[in-house]
Formats: sequence, C-alpha cells, structure tokens
Amino acid sequence: MQINLKNKNVLVTGASRGIGKSIAELLATCGANVALHYNKNKNRAEKVKHDLGPKAKLYQCDFTDGLEISGFFNEVIKDFKKLDVIINNAGIALISDPEKDDISWINDWLQTMDVNLNAAALLCKKAIQHFRVNKGGIIINISSRAAFKGDTKDHLAYAASKAGLVGLTKSIAQAYGKDGIKAFLVAPGFVRTEMAQSFIDEYGEEYATSDLALDKMTEPKDIAQFVAFLASGLANHATGGTFDINAGSYVH
Ligand SMILES: NC(=O)c1ccc[n+]([C@@H]2O[C@H](COP(=O)([O-])OP(=O)(O)OC[C@H]3O[C@@H](n4cnc5c(N)ncnc54)[C@H](O)[C@@H]3O)[C@@H](O)[C@H]2O)c1
Repeated sequence: MQINLKNKNVLVTGASRGIGKSIAELLATCGANVALHYNKNKNRAEKVKHDLGPKAKLYQCDFTDGLEISGFFNEVIKDFKKLDVIINNAGIALISDPEKDDISWINDWLQTMDVNLNAAALLCKKAIQHFRVNKGGIIINISSRAAFKGDTKDHLAYAASKAGLVGLTKSIAQAYGKDGIKAFLVAPGFVRTEMAQSFIDEYGEEYATSDLALDKMTEPKDIAQFVAFLASGLANHATGGTFDINAGSYVH
C-alpha cells in the first residue's frame, strides 16, 4: 500500500528540525504541498524548504506571542487556499526545577503552556473553522508519553501541557466528526532529536534507553511514517485515538 498525498495541503509546525522536519520531508515525498512553520532556525528552515522544492512554503511565527498565531494561520490559508491536514508538532521541554524561585518557575510554566498547548489549541480552533467550511480535514497533535506516564520533577509543565493535548484532541474528534473533521494524538517516547539530546545530556543515555522493549531508540522517521498514514485518511475511523510510538517503553 502506497501513501498518496498528491494535491493535499499540509501545515507542519516546528518543521525546521527534528520530528517536524522528518514529517515534512516524508509528506512531501508522498506528494503533499507543505506549509513549513519555524521559529528561530531560519537557515535550517530554508534548507528544508530548498530540499522540498516548489511544493513547500516557509512561515515564521513565535508561539510565545499569541497575537502572531492567528495572522500566521491566515497567511497559510491565503497562500494555499485550502488546507487538508494540520500537524501541531512544535514544542519545548524546558528544564524547570520546582526549587527555583516562584517567578522563574511560573514563567517557565507559562512559556511551556504557550508553545505546547495554547498555540496548538488556537491552531486547532482556526483549523476547525477552516475545515468546517471545506467539509473536512485532519488534525494531528504531537503529544508525548509524558502525558500518560508522567515525567521528571523538572518537567512538570511539559507533562501537563502534553496531557492538555489529550483532552483537546479527543474533544475535537467527538464534537466535529459529523463535520468531517478527524483528530488524532501521537504520543512519542524518546525520539533521537536535539530535544532528546538535551534531556540525555542532563539525565544520561541510560535514562532514555533502559526501559525500551526494542533494541534502539525511536528515530524521527518512525514518527513521520505513522503521521503520513494518519494524514492519508486511511485511519479515519480511528479518530480520537492516541497512538503510542515509544519502542514498547510504556504500554497502556
Ligand atoms: N524528541 C523526543 O524525545 C520527543 C518525545 C515526545 C514528544 N516529543 C514532541 O515532539 C515534538 C517535536 O520534538 P523534537 O524532538 O523534534 O524537538 P526539537 O526541539 O528538535 O524541535 C522542536 C520544534 O519546535 C519549534 N519551536 C520551539 N519553540 C517554539 C516557539 N516559541 N514558537 C514556535 N515554534 C517553536 C522549533 O522551532 C522546532 O522546530 C515536540 O512537540 C515534542 O514535545 C518529542
């Protein structure tokens, strides 16, 4: 079975590196036109766009600035006219020790919520409005194993923000199924990216690999392949579902 995304317009947030880059590259290989979002890595985002060719367009937006997000989405729609799939992938995993002073800790908490949950929620809202007019669309939210398993004391905000995506995604699937809108949650365990590397640098490789059932850590392409399947529409009757991709490290 071949995944065919020809004539599908897809928005991928956080596509300049890591999992988002891998998703964007695979979806383009499957034929999709891709709106590539990035925040700070302009050179890297331009390289991804260059490699994807004329089917890709680049958009910058800092998700800590809520006011920018609507304008960014509107710009994508202006260029692509119709969007078929949105993948909320952008995320941060700030290390924030609860022993820190209250002001610093709450700032870390709010920044984490802004990027991981609030931006994704607003983009879901914008996508729902757009999809309702166009009689359907697919939302894929990249959550985390942390939403279900919990995380370290330094990642309370991270786990909570990713858990917020669970309720958001299930609710959208149930509320808007009759409008042709499908919503899926992907929950990766450790995936070999720069985000995971900073975690490994802090806690050690053993922390990331000791509970794997498989013999190696998940790679970005392992997430991308599953996302391509969800984006194709072949899994529509699994709407509302959570998909663990964690090398068997947490099964529930
Ligand atoms: N790597 C892992 O082990 C792992 C595990 C579970 C879930 N995830 C999730 O997968 C997603 C991608 O992770 P990754 O490992 O590729 O991370 P990464 O750090 O390599 O990439 C994160 C992306 O988010 C974007 N981003 C960061 N701050 C932003 C901001 N203020 N505004 C807009 N965009 C911003 C970055 O530009 C980047 O493209 C994240 O949501 C992450 O939480 C990753």
